[in-house]
Amino acid sequence: MAEAKRLDKFLSECFELSRSIIGKEVRAKHVSVNGEVQRDPAFKVYVGDHVALGDVEVEVYDKLYFMVNKPAGCVCANDDPNYPIVFSYIEEFGIHGCHCVGRLDLDTTGLILITNDGQWSHRIASPKHHCGKVYEVTLAEPVTQQQIAQLEKGILLNGEKKETAPAVVTVRDPLHIELNIFEGKYHQVKRMIAAVGNEVTALNRISIGALKLDPALEQGEYRPLTEEEIALFS
Ligand code: URA
Repeated sequence: MAEAKRLDKFLSECFELSRSIIGKEVRAKHVSVNGEVQRDPAFKVYVGDHVALGDVEVEVYDKLYFMVNKPAGCVCANDDPNYPIVFSYIEEFGIHGCHCVGRLDLDTTGLILITNDGQWSHRIASPKHHCGKVYEVTLAEPVTQQQIAQLEKGILLNGEKKETAPAVVTVRDPLHIELNIFEGKYHQVKRMIAAVGNEVTALNRISIGALKLDPALEQGEYRPLTEEEIALFS
């Protein structure tokens, strides 16, 4: 039998509202389960039940977690008028309210995580958790010792008030470095590399925290995360 969830806990996660607000809504008879008003916040709901808060109805879902090897030319958004969205590679998308954990640029490839578990994705994305993200960076010009030193010290990017957190640079060869960064500012890697006087010609993310992109996944392929992988951010 599928696992039961408390009605107030499910609604609080689903609508990102506090349990106390949800409790008030339940007691005010604004919540129904499968068409019947439900006044007990501890009422148990199951996957497949239809729960309504006011006019908004949702189906009780399981938590879902995927990794995708994002190809270039698709966007990390729920819809886009011009480009395919990363979810179009996932058959299950659309049913369970999934979102991308952070974003990669249109031309960036590699590891993107997709989930419908807001708390889990917050733990990964929040700068408070110092979750490193490693990018393979292809450079236009050979990297110099001075550039490495600047990247590892921290850089004040245009429009920012604080320097970037010190990054960790691993040189594969003069035109290929791995950059481990601990924040997720807009276009951060490209801006950091431009700030030290070089240019990114290709960018591929290979890990988020201890979670590595599965080398068996071709670009455009995805797979569910294992229990162990999910637990890395729990
Ligand atoms: N930094 C960038 O500049 N682009 C990305 O897609 C990710 C990190």
